[in-house]
Amino acid sequence: MSTHRWNAELYDTRHAFVADLGADLLELLDARPGERVLDAGCGTGVHVSALHAAGVDVVGVDASPEMVERARARFPGIDVRVADLRTLGLPGGFDAVLSNAVLHWIPEADRAAAAIAAALRPGGRLVAELGGAGNISAIDTGARRLRAELGLPEPVSPWYFPGIADYAQVLAAAGLELTGAWLFDRPTRLAGQDGLADWVRMFGAHLLDGVADTDAFLAALADRLRPTCFQDGAWWADYRRLRVTATRVAR
Ligand code: BEZ
Repeated sequence: MSTHRWNAELYDTRHAFVADLGADLLELLDARPGERVLDAGCGTGVHVSALHAAGVDVVGVDASPEMVERARARFPGIDVRVADLRTLGLPGGFDAVLSNAVLHWIPEADRAAAAIAAALRPGGRLVAELGGAGNISAIDTGARRLRAELGLPEPVSPWYFPGIADYAQVLAAAGLELTGAWLFDRPTRLAGQDGLADWVRMFGAHLLDGVADTDAFLAALADRLRPTCFQDGAWWADYRRLRVTATRVAR
């Protein structure tokens, strides 16, 4: 899993769209008061707080101590813990697991799926969204081309963006039966005139590895991506989402 250190405050203020865009996942989850729900990769706790307020018995986990600290500060009283999704180690018994915009940070997808399955009771459900095949290819390809022109090595990607068929196999191997899957474009508006540079700094630090002058690199990337990623006075990230629902099979 990525060892990226998150700036939790910046995440909330400039990149709040991550939680906002996951809000309709809660509808899909349709959690009932009293149900036990795990938010796997809870970030700064927005969904944990909403579920808690709805009477759901919810636990949030995140690998980032900075995120968990901010979640506790923002929403006192919620149950959020630091945990690695590859090795959750939470006893099974959750009625449902929710996961938004985190599973693409775990290239060891089989381990994450197995840990999620182990946290669910038989018949328990998973509702998850992650970057899907082709996610942010304009930004990624643009940055890689620029690096190559500067003689920099190929960066090692911390991301995992599967298609439906590949992810169905990962889930099946973990004992999770796919009940729904959607792969769709979601162009996402980035805040501010430096939205693209802010995004790369926040989420794509590997694309800057070994770059001597990051400001100049990001300015060159912005020039290059402007025709495709700057529209109506704003930067847009070419997000592509994979949304899945699955049920843990009884073994
Ligand atoms: C995503 O939500 O798709 C994403 C966010 C940051 C980096 C890569 C992907």
